[in-house]
Amino acid sequence: MRILFIGDVFGRTGRDLVREGLPVLAARYGLDAVIANVENAASGAGITRETGEALLKSGIDVMTTGNHVWDKREALTYIGVEPRLLRPLNMSPSAPGRGAFVTRLADGRPLGVINAMGRVFMPPVDNPFEAVAAAVDRLSRESRVIVVDMHAEATAEKIAMGWHLDGRAAALVGTHTHVQTADARILPGGTAYITDVGMTGPHDSIIGMERAEVLARFVTGLPARMEPAEANPRLQAVIIDADDRTGLAREIIRLDWSRQELRDARRVEDDEQPV
Ligand SMILES: [Fe+2]
Ligand SMILES: [Fe+2]
Repeated sequence: MRILFIGDVFGRTGRDLVREGLPVLAARYGLDAVIANVENAASGAGITRETGEALLKSGIDVMTTGNHVWDKREALTYIGVEPRLLRPLNMSPSAPGRGAFVTRLADGRPLGVINAMGRVFMPPVDNPFEAVAAAVDRLSRESRVIVVDMHAEATAEKIAMGWHLDGRAAALVGTHTHVQTADARILPGGTAYITDVGMTGPHDSIIGMERAEVLARFVTGLPARMEPAEANPRLQAVIIDADDRTGLAREIIRLDWSRQELRDARRVEDDEQPV
């Protein structure tokens, strides 16, 4: 099973990259399922029904989130009617929505997705290690292949979660920093791992926002209104090839495509189509 996991989709720039890029990547890699972290999909902060529906229409099967999940208030109700939208499972049990979901591929095969959030330099949440282990046990009754999004700041916490799940999940992928790490690998037990998938959005920015205002905040210490950037759009993701029989990973491929590269690839694909 070939699963594309897209790193934090940021604002309109990120949504456009997903819409334009997914057909190209599907044609090139033969994807069975697409997961994306969408916590910044609506103007760089949160998710709305409109942006969520657009992303699902673009071909995303399951949407994960993180600390920004409630930045747009309507997410509190949208998550109740959209089971394909997850929030970290180790939030308060009274938070709406859920942190795990089993989707069905077009051919009926199940795929389990779990969303967790770290506790180091993050808003307070319950223990993710115990919560994820319990969720993997629960989901493994329904789906052999399970992908976990560990939304966290600290590299050590994500690496620890990778080892915690090694041999129990197809993949543990990190999100949240918006910076792709070069450590994609298959752990000895068969779990695909990367500390951070990166950001699908404007890369001439400060993790997605226009540079001037963020820089002024750092330089002066004064509050400034932040705006989503647009320059240098790049789609960052990983492809996980999972064995349907064992539920473990055979391969993890790191992707980092500029919008221009996606457009050029699309032109080549279109030219290759028989007339
Ligand atoms: Fe993010
Ligand atoms: Fe985040």
